[in-house]
Amino acid sequence: MADDDPSSKPDFTKGVSLNRIPDGGSLAGRIGGDEAILVRRGETVFCVGAHCTHYHGPLGDGLVVGTTVHCPWHHACFSLETGEPLRAPALDPIACWRVERQGDQVFAREKLPEFSGRKAVAAGRAPSSIVIVGGGGAGLAAADMLRRDGYDGPLTILSADDSPPSDRPNLSKDFLAGTAKDDWIPLRGPEFYADRKIDLVLNAHVSALDVAQKRVQVDGGKSYAFDRLLIATGAEPVHLDIPGSTAQQVHYLRSFSDSKAIVAKTETAKTVVVIGASFIGLEVAASLRARKLDVHVVAPEQQPPERIMGSEIGRFVRALHEDHGVIFHLGQTVAGVAGRKVTLKDGWTVDADFLVVGVGVRPLTAIAENAGLTIDRGIAVNEFLETSAPGIFAAGDVARWPDPHTGQRIRVEHWVVAERMGQAAAKNLLGRHERFDAVPFFWSQHYDVTINYVGHAETWDSIKVDGDLSKQDAAVSYIKGGKTLALATVFRDLFSLDTEANMERSEVQAASTKSRDF
Ligand SMILES: Cc1cc2nc3c(=O)[nH]c(=O)nc-3n(C[C@H](O)[C@H](O)[C@H](O)COP(=O)(O)OP(=O)(O)OC[C@H]3O[C@@H](n4cnc5c(N)ncnc54)[C@H](O)[C@@H]3O)c2cc1C
Ligand code: FES
Repeated sequence: MADDDPSSKPDFTKGVSLNRIPDGGSLAGRIGGDEAILVRRGETVFCVGAHCTHYHGPLGDGLVVGTTVHCPWHHACFSLETGEPLRAPALDPIACWRVERQGDQVFAREKLPEFSGRKAVAAGRAPSSIVIVGGGGAGLAAADMLRRDGYDGPLTILSADDSPPSDRPNLSKDFLAGTAKDDWIPLRGPEFYADRKIDLVLNAHVSALDVAQKRVQVDGGKSYAFDRLLIATGAEPVHLDIPGSTAQQVHYLRSFSDSKAIVAKTETAKTVVVIGASFIGLEVAASLRARKLDVHVVAPEQQPPERIMGSEIGRFVRALHEDHGVIFHLGQTVAGVAGRKVTLKDGWTVDADFLVVGVGVRPLTAIAENAGLTIDRGIAVNEFLETSAPGIFAAGDVARWPDPHTGQRIRVEHWVVAERMGQAAAKNLLGRHERFDAVPFFWSQHYDVTINYVGHAETWDSIKVDGDLSKQDAAVSYIKGGKTLALATVFRDLFSLDTEANMERSEVQAASTKSRDF
């Protein structure tokens, strides 16, 4: 029987010897038809579901830290005691079973009740109402955590989007490649909002914030009063002025509608020009190659994505795309478009059915700026994610926070960070006063290769490559002043998790000596 056949694995209800479970590690098995893992911490053993509730990552290959297990794929973290998804990107709990010891034998018994949240916040201490501006990763994760943490007062999400909070990273990957269905994209179904009494208002663009009156105004609509507010407006793609092009020809990618519009074009198109060799641009290139389009990537830099990750990863990513038939025009820009003809600065031309621009994003700070909040290339927040206006918090792509690891104020555009900021902001909206000290993490996927990145390095003194990128087995460290600021890995998931955990431990120590600041 194949190893991945659940019936070939030990049945935990029949008992297994404690010695078979490595201390600080796990043993894969099953409970009836359910795949499960036993995790051991000294004499204590936990039994939980074997798969992450984000994208089904194998938790048995993850990292056990204290009484939590971290997923190897995108670093979600679950409680081994309750199954709670403690850290995004997973938002749903894993199953837990009661474990019984008889001598050296360990038995899984009945399934424990699914984790469903904590008891209500004490009356009088809870905000009288909370409004979240922004229905993206940060906004949804915040709303989810508010209800999980027992807040049962009025909760409204005002979103300029025309669709409910979506799995945005998927929009340039499986959905665009045609391997994920429409119904995979919403992060939550309508029943989630109904059951939790979350008032999700779509097509609601907030145009003004009145800090003194504690109100936000929706364009052409009503205004909403709040006791506490979270601004999670994210970022918008930078638009390019491409001489001769029409709005129908040029696509940007941020929302579900944007991705659907590109998919619709692929039905008849043969050739696309992608402008920008950012991760999103390159993920678009990979997904459109999967749909058999001819893909030309035009970018001013000499090596993508060198600026963010250095020349080693740059060469690797470029070679990966070239192996899949992407044609790069580097050190180039588009000079103009005439009908289907796209002309580059050097005079080279191609007939293209459409163009996709991925040249970066800018944070959507207007409502905060106009309301007089402190802005610092994003909305400035302190370590509790509170803005310069008490009771108003910001999270996600729009917020710049004091990162304890680098000692700098940083703003990043990472899905997991946005969700974790939303979760941390939720706790602080409830007055819990918890520092946001997560190590930044992002992943990017190109064909069947995923690059995981932990930490944050805007500049570095040196880069150290351990392993062999050409064999897709490597860890690349970004070092400054003798300290590893960030690590990029290709198929070295456990090392990435370990590095994240080590960075977190040192951050917590550093942060405990610092005071609140703007
Ligand atoms: C195609 C794509 C692929 C990506 N892939 C990855 C990846 O692989 N890995 C990774 O780490 N990151 C990835 N990212 C980045 C990641 O999606 C973002 O970092 C994340 O979405 C930020 O979350 P957010 O909640 O801050 O902002 P968003 O998700 O952008 O949400 C902002 C929300 O605010 C709303 N809004 C804005 N202004 C207003 C207003 N004035 N009034 C009301 N509502 C408003 C918007 O409509 C939206 O609902 C990707 C991004 C895109 C676009
Ligand atoms: S599959 Fe586990 S975090 Fe994504």
